[in-house]
Amino acid sequence: MDINGSKIPSHVAIIMDGNGRWATARGKNRSAGHREGSKNVDRIVSHAFFKGVKTLTLYAFSAENWERPKEEVDELMRLLKVYFTKFIGKALKNNVRLKVIGDKSRLSDELRELIERDEKKSENNEGRNLLVAINYGGRQEIVSAVNVLIRDGKEVTVSSVSERLYTAPFGEPDLIIRTGGEKRLSNFLLYQGAYSELYFTDVLWPDFDEAEFDKAIEEFGQRNRRYGKV
Ligand code: FPP
Repeated sequence: MDINGSKIPSHVAIIMDGNGRWATARGKNRSAGHREGSKNVDRIVSHAFFKGVKTLTLYAFSAENWERPKEEVDELMRLLKVYFTKFIGKALKNNVRLKVIGDKSRLSDELRELIERDEKKSENNEGRNLLVAINYGGRQEIVSAVNVLIRDGKEVTVSSVSERLYTAPFGEPDLIIRTGGEKRLSNFLLYQGAYSELYFTDVLWPDFDEAEFDKAIEEFGQRNRRYGKV
């Protein structure tokens, strides 16, 4: 509940789509769209925590995004490095814990070390969690959890798989937002999203501001979550 009595989702996940189209519409290259999108990350992270969201999960780079042109991938990796270099100061001040979800083994040593430094330094921060999905794929996550169970000779059940997902300590998203007009999950949080409310907006990620975020929260407050029951 927030001060106005409306329901605030505890865990919000966002598919930040539309950077490329934002840039193309302005005669700029796609990387310029990612730079603008990156600025918006700061704005929405602050606002979401201000509204009372406890866990925010952002889809920054999918396992399939490596197929994009090299210069675009390089720019996204550069932006992530900039983000994690600056992140830790703000995180410690604002009590935010960082966790990167996805397969970190394909990232450069430099980026991986920065991430691990930030994760370690922020691990005792409680109450606000920022999860950033990088080289993440929902199917890959499920398959790898099942393989770990098989390797360890454990039974594969709904809860044993769930306990081995990257997000295990942070719970499932109450609300998944996708900006940029497409209405699909694109391999994001497939297992954890089983009962998430979905919110799609045509607004492109760089234009998705505080007021747009609030619209999504308001709509969430009007949904009736039944989890398969009546
Ligand atoms: C999708 O837009 C967006 C991405 C693949 C990258 C998202 C990355 C950022 C917002 C910046 C870096 C992130 C952090 C956490 C600092 P698109 O390129 O698919 O857009 P399009 O559908 O219009 O082509």
